[in-house]
Formats: sequence, C-alpha cells, structure tokens
Amino acid sequence: MLEIQNLNVRYGGIHAVRDLSISIDRGEIVTLIGANGAGKSSTIRAVMGLVKGIQGNITYTAPDGRQVSLTGKPPEYMVKMGISLSPEGRRILPHLTVEENMMLGAYSRNDAEGVARDIEYGYTLFPRLRERRGQKGGTLSGGEQQMLAVARALSSHPELLMLDEPSLGLAPILVDEVFATIREINREGRTILLVEQNAFAALRIANKAYVLETGAIALCGKGADLLENPKVKEAYLGG
Ligand SMILES: Nc1ncnc2c1ncn2[C@@H]1O[C@H](COP(=O)(O)OP(=O)(O)OP(=O)(O)O)[C@@H](O)[C@H]1O
Ligand SMILES: [Mg+2]
Repeated sequence: MLEIQNLNVRYGGIHAVRDLSISIDRGEIVTLIGANGAGKSSTIRAVMGLVKGIQGNITYTAPDGRQVSLTGKPPEYMVKMGISLSPEGRRILPHLTVEENMMLGAYSRNDAEGVARDIEYGYTLFPRLRERRGQKGGTLSGGEQQMLAVARALSSHPELLMLDEPSLGLAPILVDEVFATIREINREGRTILLVEQNAFAALRIANKAYVLETGAIALCGKGADLLENPKVKEAYLGG
C-alpha cells in the first residue's frame, strides 16, 4: 500500500536519510528500528509531508489499485489519503481537554457520526482517557499523554497508522499495554508503521522489520527472523 523509493532527507549539511527504500503491504505491522539519530523520525516525518525538500518517491496504492504519488504533498493530503502519525514526544496540546485533543485529529472530517465512532474507539482502547475526557491534556501523566497521542492519530480514521516511539518513557507494565494495543489496532484492520527504540518488543509484533544505521537500511527481514539475527542481537537486543 505504501512504497518508499530512494528517500533522501537532508538538513543543511546533515544527510539524515540515505537512499532508503521501504515497502509496506496492507494489513502488515512494519517496524523501523535503529539507534538515536539513525533517521527513523526523519523517515516517517517525510512520509507525513512534514519535511521540506526531500528526494525520492513515495507512492500510495489505494484499495482499488489506483496509485497516487505522495511526494511533496502536505500533511493534510496524507490525512485525506488515510495516513496518520502519532509523533515522537507526544505533542499534545496542554490547554485543550483530552476530548478536544482527540477532535483535532479529526479536523478534516465532516462525518460527525464517524468521528464520534472513532473517538469512542479511542476510549475503548484507552479507558483512562474516557475517565479523563474533560481534563486538560497538560495535566495528564506522561503515559496518558502517550495514549492520547495515539488516540488522536486514530481519530482521523487512518488506514495506515504511523507511530513514533509510542513506548518511550513508559513504565514496563504500560509498555506491554501499548504493544498489545498496537496489535489490537492492527487486528482490527489497520496497517502499522512502527518506529521504536524497544527493538525486542517491536520485532516481536512486526511482520517485517528494517534496521536503520546512520540513515541507511542495514538489514531487513521478518520480525521473527531479525530477533534471531546475531548482529541484531548484539547491537539492539543487548547481546
Ligand atoms: N530539523 C532538523 N534539523 C537539523 N538536523 C536534524 C533535524 N531533525 C533531525 N536532524 C538530524 O538528523 C539525524 C536523524 O534524526 P532523526 O530524528 O530522524 O533520528 P531518529 O532515528 O528518530 O533518532 P531518535 O531515536 O533519537 O529519535 C540526526 O543526526 C538529527 O540530529
Ligand atoms: Mg526519533
């Protein structure tokens, strides 16, 4: 459903992503792992249209087989095509309530019933958010803000949900909960592109995985195979 071909991202003199090619099939969980600064966020931010002046081709294939180029298009366009991002560092709006934050993800939709259904879906996945629906985003705990970022990304009813380090900074018990939730969102029919530092947990749920090193893909394979790969074990799974 999404084909990234020879993506290059540069920030001034920094060549953050180098000739990266990734292919995502409908229904898959694909993960991108790698050390700090490897270019993971740059890659998904580029797909979302948040990075200026990228090179390469990003092509989306609709369920009916129609192909659309996403290269150089703005984030609103990606949302229309059914792609959404839960960004790194949560980026929720502290002065808006939980529910208002969730509504923001749905800003471009005009089917009120569908929006209400998707917000309800977010509350079902994260019951804590329902209890706190009227609370200001900024007063949520770190873990709750992370949940809110995921719920907000779901309120645009994405076909492809991209998650940038959803487990970052969470207590172990919440990490398990977040990964279980990602699986559930996938089982319910959505495709997932997951960026993670927690390589072990990400590889366990991924159909396909790419390892990024200094902006380029060093390895790719099935999640289960990479879990057994000696190089991956040594570099990302603590030996
Ligand atoms: N807006 C920017 N301007 C300049 N350099 C940037 C910018 N964003 C990222 N970089 C640089 O590009 C490289 C890749 O950064 P990126 O955020 O994509 O890495 P990452 O794999 O997501 O790392 P982390 O695991 O720490 O989140 C880094 O060297 C970073 O300093
Ligand atoms: Mg990052």
